[in-house]
Amino acid sequence: MEEFNDNIFKYFSNLIEKETGIQYDETNKFLLFSRLQNLIKFLNFPDILSLWNDIQRNGLNQSAKLLILDTATNNETSFFRDPKVFDFFKSHFVPKIMEKSEKIRIWCAATSTGQEPYTLAMIMAELKAKGINKSYELLGTDISERVLKQASSGIFSQLEIQRGLSANLMIKYFEQIITETSSLPSYKAKPELSTFMTFKQLNLLHDWPNIGTFDIIFCRNVLIYQSVENKKNIIARFAKLLNPRGYLILGGAESLLQLSNDFDFETYGNICVHRLK
Ligand SMILES: C[S@@+](CC[C@H](N)C(=O)[O-])C[C@H]1O[C@@H](n2cnc3c(N)ncnc32)[C@H](O)[C@@H]1O
Repeated sequence: MEEFNDNIFKYFSNLIEKETGIQYDETNKFLLFSRLQNLIKFLNFPDILSLWNDIQRNGLNQSAKLLILDTATNNETSFFRDPKVFDFFKSHFVPKIMEKSEKIRIWCAATSTGQEPYTLAMIMAELKAKGINKSYELLGTDISERVLKQASSGIFSQLEIQRGLSANLMIKYFEQIITETSSLPSYKAKPELSTFMTFKQLNLLHDWPNIGTFDIIFCRNVLIYQSVENKKNIIARFAKLLNPRGYLILGGAESLLQLSNDFDFETYGNICVHRLK
């Protein structure tokens, strides 16, 4: 850790903040250092100082840059993460709020490996089986091409599938497959889930392509890493892309307090959801 001096730390933390908005400061310096260790091995450098010297001599190429940014982001996710949010979606949002709508447009911004949109698609399929048959479109976006590749494949490891998903839903909506990369079986989402889902690379800090408007936007567990300015900017742009009285769903530790006046707060069970005024 000694070799991770102020210059080197500042170089990496500035690069990461500029490109992703994620802030590393003195308090999480060690976290960044440990995250960079795998990358250093992968790039065949003995230590961080050698990587740093190489960057000084030769500059940073695009693929190394993407790897650094990918290393610095936290991709933690799971099926039905924060189940109350999905209770709201299943019992209130779809059957009541969207009762009269022809089609529901849903955006999972910062979707990581896709467990969140696949959870929503399973809920839509379960509702359909109960006679609430709504057409919908689900867009999943993330800054990282790597996680999007997995999300688009709809393939989850044994460990991933076991996190948050009941055996019943797993059997119903996933088929067991064997991949070349693991001796354990993996699980692939059935077409019923993926048919209405698309994934796109999108950096929340950059200009967004034309992705249409949405009835509900999930942006969970990503704004927490952003500066206040970035949060305000992203939330203002979400407000513009929401249909009238649309919902914005943030992570359990995130709130809009002092960030936006565009939303009403509504409580559902013990969660707070944000609704466009
Ligand atoms: C902790 S995961 C959250 C996944 C999911 N929303 C959930 O709550 O389970 C955060 C995701 O945000 C993505 N991310 C980080 N910075 C981003 C940015 N500037 N634009 C888009 N996605 C970003 C990361 O790649 C990562 O996949």
